[in-house]
Amino acid sequence: MERKKRILTGDRPTGRLHIGHYFGSLKTRVELQNSGEYDPFILIADVQALTDNFNNPQKVRENVRQVVLDNLSCGIDPEKTTIYIQSMIPEVAELTIFYSNLVTVSRLQRNPTVKTELAQKKEVFGENITYGFLGYPVSQAADITLYEGEIVPVGEDQLPLIEQTREIVRKFNSIYGDVLVEPEAVLSKNKRVKGLDGNDKMGKSLGNAIYLSDSEEEITKKVMGAVTDPGRIKKDDLGNPDICMVAYYHNLFSSKEEIDTVCKECRAGARGCVACKRQLANNIIEELRPIREKREYYEKHPEEVDKILIEGTKKAQEVARQTMKKVKKAMKLDYFE
Ligand code: TRP
Repeated sequence: MERKKRILTGDRPTGRLHIGHYFGSLKTRVELQNSGEYDPFILIADVQALTDNFNNPQKVRENVRQVVLDNLSCGIDPEKTTIYIQSMIPEVAELTIFYSNLVTVSRLQRNPTVKTELAQKKEVFGENITYGFLGYPVSQAADITLYEGEIVPVGEDQLPLIEQTREIVRKFNSIYGDVLVEPEAVLSKNKRVKGLDGNDKMGKSLGNAIYLSDSEEEITKKVMGAVTDPGRIKKDDLGNPDICMVAYYHNLFSSKEEIDTVCKECRAGARGCVACKRQLANNIIEELRPIREKREYYEKHPEEVDKILIEGTKKAQEVARQTMKKVKKAMKLDYFE
């Protein structure tokens, strides 16, 4: 029987997930899972998280749990999707070493994702990058190929990493024989979500994010502080929704009619920003309600989450062992077999 195509994707556990992740990847993940056409795997990339948080293991440990809760609360169903912890798969480390022969240092230094991240991480690395961080694209290639992942749903920023994986696969196959599967990146239909402050990116370190786990009060408070048209000082000043973050978020969370009314009244100076923000906060609260409720359920049943992780990890270990066997055979490392 032909097996279903494998999907492999993952998150670094460095913080709770926010609505940028929700639109950028979680929604697509859940849709792909529910289509029933694939066999999806989600890895919690704790080893990768340590590459730039090696001095903060407690943060990584705590966030493994948070990221699992975020995935489950958005509709990831452990009956359909295998969720596992990267560090529990020793084959990842093993395969990373094998792959490291197939990648040059300068190729890694030229990887655009690594370059961008490094520029943002001067406080961790200073001018000198670690061997581990420079090499994380190699270990990501191991993540993907151990599961023979055909499809990798990711955000745009991850494309250079998938390209790097494809290069490693081609090189490996050309030397050792046709063993590895070349993955394909699938981009989410939704673009990156801007921050409440108008920043192009929503991020934890930027303080401009709405988290999936935020309470109703937190959501309202954050929306009330969102950046609006700076030219609009009094309620009856004519507004410009094109430069207003509240209007931008209405586009993500409100109905078509609401958006039309909001924008029309804003332009005519007939609607105050406070009312507009309240309406938006309510819509966000409603959209995220099922997610919050599911999260609450899992928070109250930690033993269920443990079980999901233990079973997912077991299944992932088994797949990794199988692939590793093939890899070692191809590399003539199959001693005593
Ligand atoms: N690099 C991804 C991130 O920063 C996490 C990740 C690790 C990943 N391994 C992966 C994503 C494999 C897709 C496939 O979020």
